[in-house]
Amino acid sequence: MKIFLDTANLESIKKFNDMGLLDGITTNPSLMSKEGGNPKDAMEEITKIIKGDVSLEVISTEYSGMMEEGKRLRQYGDNVVVKVPMTPDGLKACRSFSSEGIPVNVTLIFSANQALLAAKSGAKYVSPFIGRLDDIGQDGMQLIQDIKDIFKNYPELKTQILVASIRHPVHVVDAAKIGADVVTLPPAVLDKMMLHPLTKIGLENFLADWDKLKSGNPDIKI
Ligand code: E4P
Repeated sequence: MKIFLDTANLESIKKFNDMGLLDGITTNPSLMSKEGGNPKDAMEEITKIIKGDVSLEVISTEYSGMMEEGKRLRQYGDNVVVKVPMTPDGLKACRSFSSEGIPVNVTLIFSANQALLAAKSGAKYVSPFIGRLDDIGQDGMQLIQDIKDIFKNYPELKTQILVASIRHPVHVVDAAKIGADVVTLPPAVLDKMMLHPLTKIGLENFLADWDKLKSGNPDIKI
């Protein structure tokens, strides 16, 4: 399963990229707004740092505006995936971009039908938002299972399931068990995935035991 980071924060992107954990990045207008400044600078930097797919979202809601913006976004790099909303105009733009060989991520997916339609329009990725479904009392992970089952029935659909709106590490394990292609994670979730209390205690004990050994022989070194 590929791991994308769901952020426009350069510090986080560099931190996790240096650990070799990142296969790509997803952004959206809210994430850009959270960082402030000129989003152009962020887009330029992110596409330079990350070699894998970087999803950059259009702001226009009608077809011709999406096409113009998507083409401008692609100027940041060949790894830019144009992110369009799951609307009739978004699907039309998805169709046009994908027939020109431009990869598309269809975002704001909340049902299996929407995922199926986005796949038919040629999306490289569909982004079902599981946390936001959980928030309103629906089972977000069940949607991932449903989309996976449907796509398995039609191997001609090459669209990848990109699990979005992830809130905690259990979401990641469940998505991996289902066989989702990608998870996009807020930096805080990736931080939590690294931690286990027994790792912390185990390391503290190792170091304390080493100190005991060293107190009898201060010259020893690894
Ligand atoms: C996906 O690409 C979106 O950026 C994201 O996962 C939205 O998640 P949220 O519900 O935490 O805003």
